Amino acid sequence: STHRIAVIAGDGIGKEVMPEGLRALQAAAARFGLPLEFTAFEWANCDYYLQHGQMMPADWFDQLKGFNAIYFGAVGWPDAVPDHISLWGSLLKFRREFDQYVNLRPVRLMPGVPCPLANKKPGDIDFYVVRENTEGEYSAVGGRLFENTERETVLQEAVFTRKGVDRILQFAFELAQSRPKKHLTSATKSNGIAISMPYWDERVKAMSANYPDVRWDQYHVDILAARFVLSPERFDVVVASNLFGDILSDLGPACAGTIGIAPSANLNPERTLPSLFEPVHGSAPDIYGKNIANPVAMIWSGAMMLDFLGNGDERYAQGHDAIMRAIETVLVQGPRTPDMGGTASTTEMGTAIAALV
Ligand code: NAI
Ligand code: MG
Repeated sequence: STHRIAVIAGDGIGKEVMPEGLRALQAAAARFGLPLEFTAFEWANCDYYLQHGQMMPADWFDQLKGFNAIYFGAVGWPDAVPDHISLWGSLLKFRREFDQYVNLRPVRLMPGVPCPLANKKPGDIDFYVVRENTEGEYSAVGGRLFENTERETVLQEAVFTRKGVDRILQFAFELAQSRPKKHLTSATKSNGIAISMPYWDERVKAMSANYPDVRWDQYHVDILAARFVLSPERFDVVVASNLFGDILSDLGPACAGTIGIAPSANLNPERTLPSLFEPVHGSAPDIYGKNIANPVAMIWSGAMMLDFLGNGDERYAQGHDAIMRAIETVLVQGPRTPDMGGTASTTEMGTAIAALV
């Protein structure tokens, strides 16, 4: 049956890289016979906000809920709209209302990409960060007491539910089990955060009983961050709460090269509501309008989308693999955008990738 994909380019370079993402997906669809149907939406961007006073129409949820996936560029135009308004008015609503509780980011050193860490080659860095995306430290529970007095006190509670913790751990263990190394690392801080993090550790241990073939360990998040930089070879799947995962999932891709290539997925694994696929980078106002943004993050996010939509279907797996091979070839041979030391445009790099799919 047809997979329906909502296309939201958003702001800035989101509008420049989206056509390249679609070009690669359409090439894969044509070659492998994938029944993909794309529908573009002209909201969830700052121009829409300037016209309507909100980022999205009131019925956005109903308009999108029937789609299998949202393919998302980037949102934000800080000169016109404050970032907390553009982000909370669009992307964060999708993540929460569509219960996309898994934020998945591959950390992979790709061929042809200069690594900021010394003496690393492709294959050395190849792991996933699995971030809990709906609860934990990012809660709305708290408040201010005794405002503007000497006793001024500010509280913000972290929220860990058994359902919320177990479902992210289950996803991470299953991902680890599906990979050759079958190794899971949990980020904790149970020495300092002595209530919620020991609970997290306890649930990891309980979940591990269901996956006897997965080798697992845990590190306090401070030393774990150091190990990302010093010995990234040791990781396979890293699972973390919302705050720790937020930090680790920026640090990981930074250790593996330019931000212009890092992809991400926000998953609703039950597939009852749409999942969202987007580059890690934002709208990059500093380079927008020049057609020089690197399209690889957008294209790679599209490959992740095929992988998820296919859910084991061989044709989709082939589409994913073909896009990844095309990306790798172009990263090595060029044409490359200026962030990678080249002189090619977004369109030239994207067209070269699509031609190899
Ligand atoms: P950014 O990711 O947009 O840019 C950071 C730096 O990386 C800039 O120098 C930019 O030129 C460069 N860069 C980013 N993507 C690139 C690409 N594909 N090719 C080459 N260079 C690239 O982050 P920044 O500047 O902090 O935020 C700009 C706007 O984007 C803000 O409004 C922010 O809120 C929004 N944003 C949105 C995100 C999203 O939609 N998920 C994520 C991050 C930021
Ligand atoms: Mg972040």
